[in-house]
Amino acid sequence: MRLFKQLVVVFAVLGVFVGVLMIFAYDVIKIDWIVFMEIQDSYSTQEKPLPVPAQSIPVEGPAYIPGMGAPLNPVPADEISIARGAQLYSIHCQMCHGEDGQGNGTIAAFLIKKKPSNLTSELVQSKSDGSLFLTISNGIFNPNNSLFPDVQFSGQMPPLNENLTVRERWDVVNYIRMLNAAEGQ
Ligand code: HEC
Repeated sequence: MRLFKQLVVVFAVLGVFVGVLMIFAYDVIKIDWIVFMEIQDSYSTQEKPLPVPAQSIPVEGPAYIPGMGAPLNPVPADEISIARGAQLYSIHCQMCHGEDGQGNGTIAAFLIKKKPSNLTSELVQSKSDGSLFLTISNGIFNPNNSLFPDVQFSGQMPPLNENLTVRERWDVVNYIRMLNAAEGQ
């Protein structure tokens, strides 16, 4: 009989203990434990990507180093590069800059603020390969874009660094030079 009483007491104590734990386990009394995955430096869908950490280098190697001017073209303008450039141009540029680079692509008419440049023009052709490369990479920055202050371009010339690898951008640059040669004939 004594053993029975002792057991009842032990279970009663245990019961109260477990009961108290349950109050916290089921958030009856809420304690803000940091256990949730969302409390961390990650970002969810539709959120802006995190800024690139300082001094990091892209997997393709540094395409250019900011502050050190326009890079030199490391890709020789051989047949392969130009053929690739032509293909890439027709996919990524032609809709704005037009089939032969005159700035009369199919959607050029809908770009109201600024028309796509004529890539065969003196103005564009006189620029260095590196300068064209940077334009393709970064687009054309418009600081007065009040409509989308967060967006670094105004829909005039978008940055295409995410669409084209470094090598592909140089191929396109080599092809742009050919546009001019074709024009001169
Ligand atoms: C959405 C349309 C659009 C696409 C796609 C586009 N461009 Fe442009 N591009 C423009 C517009 C608009 C301008 C003129 C912007 C300005 O003067 O502010 C421009 C300007 C340029 C210039 C002149 C830069 C200068 O300094 O004068 C070059 C070079 C150029 N684009 C190359 C390209 C190449 C190469 C591609 C494809 C890889 C491409 N663009 C894709 C719209 C486009």
